[in-house]
This record gives sequence, C-alpha cells and structure tokens, in this order.
Amino acid sequence: MEGGKRLANRKKSRSSQKPPALSRRELVTRLQEAEATLDAIRSGKVDAIVVDVRGGKKVFTLAGADHVYRVFVERMNEGAAVLGSDHTVLHCNTRFARLLGARLQKVIGSSMLDLVFPDDQARLDALLRHAAQRNCRGEIRMQCRKGNPLPVQLALSSLHPGGTRAICLIASDLSAVKRAEQELSASSGQLRNLAARLLTVREEERTRIAREIHDEMGQSLTAVKVDISWLMGRLSPRSGQMLERIGGTMQLADNLIKSVRRICTELRPGILDMGLTAALEWQAQEFQARTGIPCKLRLLAREAMVGPNVSTALFRIFQETLTNVARHSRATRTEVVLQKQRDGLVLLIRDNGQGFDPADPSLSKSVGLLGMRERAAMLGGLVNISSAPGKGTSVTAWIPFLPLDESGAMS
Ligand SMILES: Nc1ncnc2c1ncn2[C@@H]1O[C@H](COP(=O)(O)OP(=O)(O)OP(=O)(O)O)[C@@H](O)[C@H]1O
Ligand SMILES: [Mg+2]
Repeated sequence: MEGGKRLANRKKSRSSQKPPALSRRELVTRLQEAEATLDAIRSGKVDAIVVDVRGGKKVFTLAGADHVYRVFVERMNEGAAVLGSDHTVLHCNTRFARLLGARLQKVIGSSMLDLVFPDDQARLDALLRHAAQRNCRGEIRMQCRKGNPLPVQLALSSLHPGGTRAICLIASDLSAVKRAEQELSASSGQLRNLAARLLTVREEERTRIAREIHDEMGQSLTAVKVDISWLMGRLSPRSGQMLERIGGTMQLADNLIKSVRRICTELRPGILDMGLTAALEWQAQEFQARTGIPCKLRLLAREAMVGPNVSTALFRIFQETLTNVARHSRATRTEVVLQKQRDGLVLLIRDNGQGFDPADPSLSKSVGLLGMRERAAMLGGLVNISSAPGKGTSVTAWIPFLPLDESGAMS
C-alpha cells in the first residue's frame, strides 16, 4: 500500500440519527465519488479500504486479481523488496527480512543502505543509481543482525507506480555458492601443490637414478671391459673360437655402455649442468637427427643466468613440445626463440604443422600439455598454446626471474 493512492477511505456512520436531507447537487457529487472509487477497486488500483468505525480506522484488504502475485512474492525463496526514491524499504517479503535475520516490521521503513555490510554501501549506492536507468545485477553483502555478512546477488529494476519512482529488488542468497567456490578453490590449490610436488619428486628421482646408473653400472661395465681386454691379451692367437666369443662379449659391453649413457642422458641430460642454452642446442640437434625436421634456434638470451629450476622447467617444456611436434604435427619446419621479456625468460617453439584445437574438451585428459603448464606455474610462470587446424602450433613459455634462494641463481 502506498500513500492515499492505494487506499480508499470510506466513512461509515453508525449513528442512529436520521441523516440530513441532501441536495440534488450533493447527491450527484457523492454518486460520482462512489463510481470513481468502484472503478479504482475494479482496475486493481486499490489494495485496501480504510473505514472509519467506532474506536478508530479499520483496514479491509482486497483479495483482487493481484492476490496470486502477492502470495507468489511472499512464498518465493528469494528476498524481494520495493525501495522508494530515497532507498527506504517500502515493501518486502518475509524471506528478505529473514536474509537479514530481522523482523519484517523492522526492515520496512529502514534505508536499504543501512541493511548492507558497511564496506559494500558504495557499491550498493552505485547499483541503485544504475538501476534507476536500466535493470542491473550485482553482488553485495547484507548486514545480518547476527553472524557474518551474507553474500547475495541483487537483481534491480526500476518501477514507476502511479508516477512515483521506486526500485524493485530481488536478493538471492549466495552463501552456498560462495562456500562451494571456496572449497573448489582450496581443493584445486591442493591439487596444484600435489602436481608441483610430483613434478619435483619426479625430477629428483630421475637425477638420482641417472646418477646411480651412471656410477654403479657405468663403472662396473668399464671394469668388465678392462677384464675382457686383459683376457684377450692373454689368449693365444690360435684359440680362434674363444677369441671370437670374447670379442663378441667385448662388443656387448660396448653396446651396454652406450645404452647406459643414453638412458642417463634421457633421464637427465648432463648438459643441463652446462646451462640452458647448451641444453636447448643439444636437444634441438637430437630432434633434427631423429626426425629429419629442421629446427632453427635463435637464442637471444644467452647471457641470461637462470637457476637450475628454471632451466630444468624450460628444458622439459622444450622436450615435451618437440616430442609433440614429432608425434602429432607433420611439420616440415620448427623454429625456437629464447629471449628475455617482462622480467622473465620466454621460450617460443613454433611449428608449421597441421595444428589442432587447444579448446577441444578431449584434451583435458592429455598430461603432456598439462604438465608443461604445471611446470611453469610452479615457478610463477605461464604456458600459452596457440594453434588452429591447418595453422601450425606455437607454444610460449614464460618464467619470471626468481630471487637467488628460489632458483639457485641470480636473475
Ligand atoms: N605441435 C602439435 N601439432 C599438432 N597437434 C598437437 C601438437 N601438440 C599437441 N597436439 C595435440 O594435442 C594433444 C595433447 O598433447 P599432449 O602432449 O597433452 O598429449 P599427448 O602428446 O597426446 O600424450 P602425452 O600425455 O604422452 O604427452 C595431442 O594428442 C595432439 O592431438
Ligand atoms: Mg605429448
């Protein structure tokens, strides 16, 4: 109900005295008044009639055509309120009051700005101003009487009932959504930490295994070779079959030594200890020799001193990208650029192959691309993959220079 517009005042006289006789003019005026009141009731402009009875005024609420809407608004699960032009709450449903942990009577008549968390008043004010022009939405926190501020999504629209300005507001409780968001972000943070830990452990394991194989097997195989040579030197040239056998064993030992070296290098290229650029050059040559795809290197950051973590991460990203080029691209050219950019090191690997759609949902199961992203993220960096069918593929990895204690070297 608002002002006199939605209230019809009827005087009901209970006096037993005979009313004074009315003139024809007065009767016509009263009849016109009665007709206008009836019209207003029929057209739904009247919510209630206030009747003067003995002992004061009495309000009769009309259950008109809008009754269904009233019940709907009252029962809906969202808070609903109508604000006057000064942002006072003129009407609201019980749910709205409940969101604030207050009684309906307390909320009606309050300024909406006093019902929100103080830090969000400016935001609400901006939303209300905006709503006067066009419908809008926004998130704010309501100031609950008890407990924490309540996050809500507000949908605002302006109303012009009977020429006056008002704002209609629907408030949806976001606390469950926010809780789920927090849980999701916490669990994805944990997953990220786990992924980072796995990558670190894997790298450490590789280094350890490579060292052990190299030290244990490498040395033993060298000792075997020395012994075989000693034996060969002592055999008479006439023991042909024996010499042939031992010669074969010697060949076997040589092959084993080569395999051990290859396995160690694959596990962790020793050249990485010579610096990133040397390792990239070596890997590019290996790739070219193995696949026949030319790999042009432009190492513009040769002087950059990066720590072992950054070198290893960029090197592993490079290896995975080249493996993908060899396996999936059908490229005939590869280009690699290493340069300094934005306080970090950028490695760009571009191929002219068949490309792919990086947004393809089936790629979510691929661990290669994910691993590259995780490696960079572990060091505060990023990997961007830009590709399209028929357009080749570009992988850009950026890793920021890190302080000495984190990366093991000066940036
Ligand atoms: N350079 C490239 N050219 C064309 N397609 C590519 C290229 N790099 C990646 N892809 C596509 O992206 C997919 C995902 O690559 P990703 O490295 O994650 O997985 P994978 O190579 O298939 O397997 P793995 O997990 O063993 O690395 C590939 O299967 C391939 O379809
Ligand atoms: Mg791969």
